Amino acid sequence: MYYADEVIEEVRSRNDIVDIIGSYVNLKKKGNSYSACCPFHHEKTPSFHVSREKQMYHCFGCGVGGNVYTFLMEHENYSFPEAVEALAERAGVKLPEQSMTPEAKHQADVRTKIKDMNKLAAGYFHYLLKNEHGAHAMEYLKNRGLTDETIQKFGLGFSDVYRDDLYKYLKSKGYKDEELKDSGLIKYDEKQGASDRFWNRVMYPIIDTNNRVIGFGGRVMGDAKPKYINTQDTPVFDKSRNLYGLNLAKKSKRPGIIFCEGYMDVISMHQAGFDNAVASLGTALTVGQVNLVKRFTDRVYLAYDSDEAGTKAALRALEIMREFEMPARVISLKPYKDPDELIQAEGNEGFEKRIEQAKSGIMFEIDILAHNYNQEDPQERTQFQKEAARRLSVIMDPMERKNYVDSVAEQYDIDAGSLKEAVTRFGTAGVNKVDTTVFRDNRNRRSPEEEKELKQLKTERLLITWLINENALFNKLEGKISAEDFLDPVYRDIVKALFEQYANEGKVTPAAIISHYQSKEEHEKVSAIMQQDFDMEIAQNEKSKVITDLVRSIRHRSIQHQIEHAKGDLVKTGQLMLAKAQIDKLQIIL
Ligand code: UTP
Ligand code: MN
Repeated sequence: MYYADEVIEEVRSRNDIVDIIGSYVNLKKKGNSYSACCPFHHEKTPSFHVSREKQMYHCFGCGVGGNVYTFLMEHENYSFPEAVEALAERAGVKLPEQSMTPEAKHQADVRTKIKDMNKLAAGYFHYLLKNEHGAHAMEYLKNRGLTDETIQKFGLGFSDVYRDDLYKYLKSKGYKDEELKDSGLIKYDEKQGASDRFWNRVMYPIIDTNNRVIGFGGRVMGDAKPKYINTQDTPVFDKSRNLYGLNLAKKSKRPGIIFCEGYMDVISMHQAGFDNAVASLGTALTVGQVNLVKRFTDRVYLAYDSDEAGTKAALRALEIMREFEMPARVISLKPYKDPDELIQAEGNEGFEKRIEQAKSGIMFEIDILAHNYNQEDPQERTQFQKEAARRLSVIMDPMERKNYVDSVAEQYDIDAGSLKEAVTRFGTAGVNKVDTTVFRDNRNRRSPEEEKELKQLKTERLLITWLINENALFNKLEGKISAEDFLDPVYRDIVKALFEQYANEGKVTPAAIISHYQSKEEHEKVSAIMQQDFDMEIAQNEKSKVITDLVRSIRHRSIQHQIEHAKGDLVKTGQLMLAKAQIDKLQIIL
């Protein structure tokens, strides 16, 4: 999807940032700006600011910031085009039709129809749950401890006892049999004709991260089998690439994402305040699902059932996490069967404690390993110790490695010295086989070149900040420095855009520049520059000196760079040498 810059800018300018952000967070007016507690990190005093004048937001606590598009990309996890579409719709701006092949158009239409049918079905199921048809189902959910608020939040519902109730409802809304078939909500049988896939079940709509109903899980209220039926895969529902509860969990302020096995576990955890819980959709965890959560978090917790199947599932999940270098911890639920049971029994505090006590993936694996060997038998015990050493050998960080070796030695009553020796003997041979996640060496040492570059970038950022805040500079800098002098390509674009805006309109609109970029990372980067804080209180003569120094430093690097790349061209080199010599004479007086 690609929209022209003018369209993007029109949509942006028609959506006031204070209105948009104000519909998500409680903004308080303070002078020219609005503030609130940041929706992107946990805090008690507000450091999140929204400026109507600049049409930008910024959090001084966690550093996020940008324009309306950035906000929706961050908050709703929209892609850039999705953010444009959502705001266009809100402001009533008609976006140009995209040119699609007839086949692609057909596919898109099918998907849109399925989502519409799902939405209608979810609404209908919810309506049934809340009236006398669903009294029994409501009682079932209440008996399981769910509050009205939770039922509402998850959009739970009830599919009626008749075999074609939903079919009739959707037909009455004008859908054709063929379309109903695509949705997976209706089954067709040669003899019996159309019938509902779900009937007489409690319904759990499955909602994706763009808040669209993509499928359902339906549970019987007694002991009948199968306990759950799920929507089969359809053009909008891919079990391996979605997670139950992620639409809510992605907005959680709690650290990490908690994976559990069941729909009910997710609901129970959210109700207890653990609103970062998700579950897979009736299958084992998949690579696609880990890839998906990777967009939202840098660590996960596994809260799988405490039975053998759950343990196996956790071991398998740890393997996948390792492939993705995603640090994982395992929460023990014993003696309870699943998170729902634990919360019913010990409440929120009980679960919180279990999170604190969660074991790193490797300790969990070694634990399981220990149970596979008879610790009374010297030979088996030796084998266990060797296997444990092999697993520990992948730990790169020496200090971390030592800590793990010590814990394992203590826990399994092994001599720490000989365990350490065994670990060292393995070297890092086991790296590919065993959990490397907990052990990544993340010390960020920088080389002198990198340090120098960082310093240079900071200089460039500062000058851009001045440009935005002191528009008088545009005339003063004309001819003395240009966009090409900047090292960073993004900064180069920004400077170019700022000069153009000033030349055309006599003022600058930083928020418009942000939407030249499509990714969240670029939005962050660009807006961070626009929001740089600096002391405007410095005296006029001081200002001139500061700016002069910034310009000199940027020009100096730029000319030096050009000299290095003008190899052999004597004329050019000569000119550059001259320009370099003149840098010291350069003066900017405000
Ligand atoms: P569980 O049997 O643990 O279900 O299966 P649960 O969610 O904890 O439900 P309650 O507490 O018994 O009501 C875990 C998950 O496995 C899938 C569902 O996604 C379920 O949430 N499952 C289970 C099925 O798809 N079909 C089944 O028949 C059973
Ligand atoms: Mn369960």
